[in-house]
Amino acid sequence: MIKLLTTSVLVLSALVNSVWAQNPIIIKFSHVVANDTPKGNGAIKFKELAEERTKGRVKVEIYPNSQLYKDKEELEALQLGAVQMLAPSVSKFGPLGVKEYEAFDLPFIFPSTEVLRRVTEGPIGLSLFAKLESKGIKGLAYWDNGFKVMTANKPLRVPSDFKGLKLRIQSSKVLDAQMRALGANPQVLAFSEVYQAMQTGVVDGSENTPSNIYTQKVHEVQKYLTLSDHGYIGYAVIVNKKFWDGMPADIRTILEGAMKDATKYANSISKAENDRALEQIKASGKTQFITLTKAEKDQWRDAVQPVYKDMASRVGQELIDQIEKEGANAK
Ligand code: LMR
Repeated sequence: MIKLLTTSVLVLSALVNSVWAQNPIIIKFSHVVANDTPKGNGAIKFKELAEERTKGRVKVEIYPNSQLYKDKEELEALQLGAVQMLAPSVSKFGPLGVKEYEAFDLPFIFPSTEVLRRVTEGPIGLSLFAKLESKGIKGLAYWDNGFKVMTANKPLRVPSDFKGLKLRIQSSKVLDAQMRALGANPQVLAFSEVYQAMQTGVVDGSENTPSNIYTQKVHEVQKYLTLSDHGYIGYAVIVNKKFWDGMPADIRTILEGAMKDATKYANSISKAENDRALEQIKASGKTQFITLTKAEKDQWRDAVQPVYKDMASRVGQELIDQIEKEGANAK
């Protein structure tokens, strides 16, 4: 009798597994960067962990490199449910109506990765996630890319070098203000359009992380790279809220665990990936590096200081104060 029961349970569970295997929950994860970047590798790690731990009940399909959608469209696609998961740079939430995230774009706001972690892993990170909910979006995690460098076809050492240059930015009003404060003429462009815009002279330069620059071959069309670390690019991993909340609870719990571990992984490799990309750019011999002296960097800091006041009403003075307090607490 016991043997019969055991056999029936085994048959039933094999049956259930095969039904799941035939009809897995599909998570389409769309993003705009290459696979071989901090975000690309974070997405791959999440896919591996999610599929392994749900034993095939979930399938994660990754669409990198703007294959499915560009910056703005991917957010619309998520809200419509055409894709289920994204990891946009937090500099891209303004057009969605969550402009507080642009506080992350304030130049020199994060003096270190430690301060950044205190912000993303503490109450500030959670309160920003809460702002996404009314847009039908749920925030799951924050992933790093890293600190930005500036590129152009002329050396950028001091603010007067920026005069009149057309520089590509992400769709953030704070980045717009930053570029204007430096004397440049900012142009919002989707990430997928950057290389061509530089090649054809639509823009003269840009800011980005080394891993994004190298994997998009931007260094091939930019003669100079200034090691400025003047700002940060990071991601919010987000899902369509209705989809996420509608998933069987046991599966959701497993996926939350997979996301937690993928986040640890993504944030542990980001610095090394950007350091490696810098080495690769240097080795290409196409781009000359510029290291700023303290006096030169101080000129950048002075030039962008007004951005804090000008953008306070947009991102919230209270939020800026909270972030700065985390900076002071970290010291
Ligand atoms: C950019 O548009 O420059 C970045 O946000 C791309 C990315 O996702 O890292």
